Amino acid sequence: MCPEVMAALVEANAHHVPGYGDDPWTRRAERLFRDVFETDCEVFFVFNGTASNCLALWSLCESFHGVICHRHSHIETDECGAPGFFMHGVTLLPADTIGGKLDEQAVRAAHQTRHDFHAPQPRALSLTQATELGTVYTTSEIGALSAVARELKLSVHMDGARFSNAVASLTVSPAEVTWRAGVDVLSFGGTKNGAGMGEAVVFFDRERADNFRRRCKQSGQLASKMRFLSAQWVGLLENGAWLRYAEHSNRMAAYLERQLERVPGAKISFPREANAVFVSLPEEAAAAVASKGWRFYNDVGPGGAARLMCAWDTTESDVDAFIADLLSAVSPNVTPG
Ligand SMILES: Cc1ncc(COP(=O)(O)O)c(C=O)c1O
Repeated sequence: MCPEVMAALVEANAHHVPGYGDDPWTRRAERLFRDVFETDCEVFFVFNGTASNCLALWSLCESFHGVICHRHSHIETDECGAPGFFMHGVTLLPADTIGGKLDEQAVRAAHQTRHDFHAPQPRALSLTQATELGTVYTTSEIGALSAVARELKLSVHMDGARFSNAVASLTVSPAEVTWRAGVDVLSFGGTKNGAGMGEAVVFFDRERADNFRRRCKQSGQLASKMRFLSAQWVGLLENGAWLRYAEHSNRMAAYLERQLERVPGAKISFPREANAVFVSLPEEAAAAVASKGWRFYNDVGPGGAARLMCAWDTTESDVDAFIADLLSAVSPNVTPG
């Protein structure tokens, strides 16, 4: 946890307050979200990203609906079928593109399934920002996809587990890249940017938020001691820590990418646009650094590249230590400089 979040939690622990979100910390966090997004949005706090995505989508869909998403999206590949489970059978309609970003053609192709009553009816479009492959949709790309969604009568959900990194990368306002570009509901990630746990579900279209608290309760996501989720957001949002940390982790990823150029055989797989670097490494080098304790996935997206993530507290020396281990694995006689 970053110090701002820890400090807010310690402060929130000082007194007793009413439960289930009827408390000053939750009110303060809600106000901060409205300031950050420059609109009267409705905000809810849940424990994790899977629930945040599924509950957000559930508020847009009936069980017979379909959600268009990327083939490599977290909801499709990494939530153990939770969208179908939460939404009582809703179908995911995966679309494919290279690089993790959906485009108009892919969305239209996924939408062109049968529309008679024997088939699931497409009802929502879910975009991940930043994407699972570390790329970032520009504001105009989101605007164009939202326009297609409107034409096809789809609501727009954004999986923003790394939304902060996307905003830092684009240097735009959060409003510009969400509701002003046509996003209806955002799952805003805290855990990957300095929070201990917790994600916020932000409804720009307040009508969609009807019964959301009931859905949270029913699915075990309504925290009785809500202030310990919401206070973390006060720590992140009040003095801009969320953006500073996201800028920092993006900067560390840029540094890591530059350092990887020194490693013979290392090849960057996707454009590095936020805090993730995807790199294809010689097999023996990947195994050697893993044996020294470095941990990374190599099954996110196509091609088996190592997914290297930089965090809010990654330092240049962390990167240097990793690169030194990689260099000694690929060329044992070279002294890292
Ligand atoms: C794109 C994306 N969405 C959502 C999540 C949230 O998942 P969790 O339920 O583990 O908090 C993750 C976590 O890896 C993710 O990468």
